[in-house]
Amino acid sequence: MDSRKILCLLLILFLEMLTQSRLLLGGSDSHSHKCGFQAFFNFGDSNSDTGESSAAGLAEVTPPNGETFFGNPSGRFCDGRIIVDFIAEKLKLPYLSAYLDSLGTDFRHGANFAAGGSSIRPGGYSPFHLSIQISQFKRFKARVEGVYNELVSLPKEGEKFLPSQCNIPGHVDFSKALYTFDIGQNDLAYGLQHSTEEQVRMSIPDILIQFSQAVQELFREGARFFWVHNTGPLGCLPYSVIYYPSKHGNLDENGCVKPQNEIAQEFNRQLKDRISELNTQLSDSTFTYVDVYSAKYELISSAKSQGFVDPMNFCCGSYYGYHINCGKTAIVNRTVYGIPCKNPSMHISWDGIHYSEAANLWIASKILNGSLSHPPLSVEEACQYMQNA
Ligand SMILES: *[C@@H]1O[C@H](CO)[C@@H](O)[C@H](O)[C@H]1NC(C)=O
Ligand SMILES: *[C@@H]1O[C@H](CO)[C@@H](O)[C@H](O)[C@H]1NC(C)=O
Repeated sequence: MDSRKILCLLLILFLEMLTQSRLLLGGSDSHSHKCGFQAFFNFGDSNSDTGESSAAGLAEVTPPNGETFFGNPSGRFCDGRIIVDFIAEKLKLPYLSAYLDSLGTDFRHGANFAAGGSSIRPGGYSPFHLSIQISQFKRFKARVEGVYNELVSLPKEGEKFLPSQCNIPGHVDFSKALYTFDIGQNDLAYGLQHSTEEQVRMSIPDILIQFSQAVQELFREGARFFWVHNTGPLGCLPYSVIYYPSKHGNLDENGCVKPQNEIAQEFNRQLKDRISELNTQLSDSTFTYVDVYSAKYELISSAKSQGFVDPMNFCCGSYYGYHINCGKTAIVNRTVYGIPCKNPSMHISWDGIHYSEAANLWIASKILNGSLSHPPLSVEEACQYMQNA
């Protein structure tokens, strides 16, 4: 097949989805209507990576990752679906492909720029910090529009590939997509690993200035609908508890590292303020701030009654005694380390850092219906303008 025709076939689907967006802004029943987002774009770290760091060759995600749902590692640091997958399900869209994945991808309904280890500021665990992810988005958008324009301007001899025959609509609209964020955890984690708590606390305003700049860049590209997850209780990750130098009184009643959670909460307080500033500054934009922290903390503090084992337990990999990553095993002193558990659905933590699919499902059910959002919009309703909410 002619390569143009292939491009055409791939693109028409994407363009169709973007332009046939059934936004019903200003409808009579403006409180409860759904937006019908036809595409969404995600920016973040390993909490929402759907294969980016695998595709980039930065991480090796091996079985048993993916064992519960995808049947293969799927580039996710999880036994199955992660929260961004549940967002896709809620929006009735396919799971997002990683932008850098070269095979088997589907960008008709958006793309995922999130990569494991990424932070907002440069210089952390991953090269794909937020402004790189925004650059990748800009390149993606320019390519979509460029190929569209190329098809529109094909000469007569290319007639059979004309947009009308490809069914390409006349107008590409990235402004009707939803833009989702889950990033910041690694700024704090990296900071805590390399500097003092006080220094991390002092760095929060600068981290958030860079976050705001990234959002404004997207706004200039036409983005209008933003769904922003705050950062989770870092101090409740088994990894944090294992590696944090224990001091008397440092752990809370759930066994989480108190000073780390306090820093995460301070980050969230300032993030919320920044978001309401952005909401005011950027006209015709809608920002939904989502309190993922509370959902995660509630799950951890009620683990037993929700049918989970001790939240400091995790399923895959080993940090106690001998350190080995999820997916590998080692025999040391005749003890085998790294054998995954048999019941991931009973664990909140999958690998000591990332949540299990069962936990992600629980958290998603709390956050996606709007009960922890400000303003209180569900992800399907996040198109609504509620400037003064
Ligand atoms: C293995 O045994 C050696 C010698 O007794 C000891 O030094 C080492 O810490 C042990 N390693 C682990 C992971 O238990
Ligand atoms: C959202 O879902 C949670 C968990 O299922 C439930 O407790 C809450 O009442 C729901 N809130 C709304 C606004 O539907």
